[in-house]
Amino acid sequence: MNMPKKATQVKETKPPKVKAPAAEDQAKKKPKTPQLVRGMRDILPEDQPYWRRCYEVAQKLADEFGFERIELPVVEPEELFVRSVGKTTDIVEKEMYVFEDSEGGKLALRPEATASFCRSYIANGLMSRPQPQKLWLWGPMFRHDRPQAGRYRQFFQADYEVIGDASPVADAQVILLTYLFFTELGLNVEMHINSIGSPEDRSRYKMELVQWYRTRKKGLCENCQKRLVRNPLRLLDCKEPGCAEIRKDAPQILDWLSTEAKEHFMHVLEYLDELGIPYFLDPFIVRGLDYYTKTVFEFVAVGAQDKAQIALCGGGRYDLLIEQLGGKPTPACGVAPGIDRAVIAMKEQNVTLPPAPKPQIFVAQLGEQGRRRALALYNRLREAGFVLAESFAKDSLKTQLDNANQKGIPYVLLVGQREVMDNTVIIRDMESGNQEIVDYQKIVNEMKKKFK
Ligand code: HAM
Repeated sequence: MNMPKKATQVKETKPPKVKAPAAEDQAKKKPKTPQLVRGMRDILPEDQPYWRRCYEVAQKLADEFGFERIELPVVEPEELFVRSVGKTTDIVEKEMYVFEDSEGGKLALRPEATASFCRSYIANGLMSRPQPQKLWLWGPMFRHDRPQAGRYRQFFQADYEVIGDASPVADAQVILLTYLFFTELGLNVEMHINSIGSPEDRSRYKMELVQWYRTRKKGLCENCQKRLVRNPLRLLDCKEPGCAEIRKDAPQILDWLSTEAKEHFMHVLEYLDELGIPYFLDPFIVRGLDYYTKTVFEFVAVGAQDKAQIALCGGGRYDLLIEQLGGKPTPACGVAPGIDRAVIAMKEQNVTLPPAPKPQIFVAQLGEQGRRRALALYNRLREAGFVLAESFAKDSLKTQLDNANQKGIPYVLLVGQREVMDNTVIIRDMESGNQEIVDYQKIVNEMKKKFK
């Protein structure tokens, strides 16, 4: 008898694994998701309550202090920033997004907005309107900086500018607004203030500074050795520990100010004293942009992990900029709080946000006709000012009721086919479980009575 060969005797050679053609095709076709650009970020819904709060406070203070909103483009001629922020600044030398457009012009994504305010002030003849012009904006800025926490390539600023006012009270008003911006957000902040005088004051001071640093050059970081030649004032705000140590004994600009600049600064400080706004006189605040004259200041978050990164805002006076850009001599000052950093500080300091309005009514539906009527009902209640919730995409009534329950919503209004036919709505009291049937036309009034 021929015995069937044992399966073990037969050496089966496994066929090579071949992907099913459909799967292979599918794998090929699966499109790759384009990557987020380095240094850019998405600000997701869970962060929006912080952003919304910042915007509310920014807008409220603008209204209270009489700043009018302006919208300025994010694309400007590169030259605008080279001539205002300054050729030898980090922003212009290393951080600007510059590109050529098809018409041959060299354009830049704005790294800041003060220069744009000035361009707009000149171009739109805003000098012929009542002075000072108090303007503000909220929007994204772009700097090709090394990305790290609190340092992004697209970030947001609120920016307030007072254009056409030379008096120290304008500086004080801008500082007060900034102080209120941070304190109304619930932040614990410190202000550092200095005066860098006029260009003449600065050039006398720079000569002294360069002279002083000459014998100490070896202890400086590579960057500061270059700065000593190109932009000596920047030696004062280098974050390298070695440079910071040397700087402690450096001559201070306040000793080189003209009488006029000194008096202006004294007046600003007197206003701040009168307002009870605390400040640190900080001789090392020089700011990284060339257009400043006289008052300069920054706010930092108290207890921030890294104070260098966490300057929450920068501001000051720029009395010569409009003239440098081709306008008539026009003194001005302003400030730009950085919103991304304000949000980081709010989280670090555990700021509690005002609670979002709680939904009062959940609109539920059953069946296609019910859903159609429910959407119309939702709209009627919305017009009447109720805070609402729904899950129209769900068919199951149980899921909808669970949803309302989880959110702690006191009333569910239910519309099914029957209610559509009878022109009624069921009101369900979620606490007691009681239900009543109400005429569709009377529902808004009925609900108003419940929330009296
Ligand atoms: P700024 O100091 O260059 O000044 O920037 C102001 C604020 O913007 C900083 O204090 C910071 O909060 C935020 N900021 C700057 N760079 C970044 C970044 N890479 N990532 C996140 N946040 C950043 C100005 O821009 C001047 N235009 C301010 C001004 C207005 N001066 C007079 N008027």
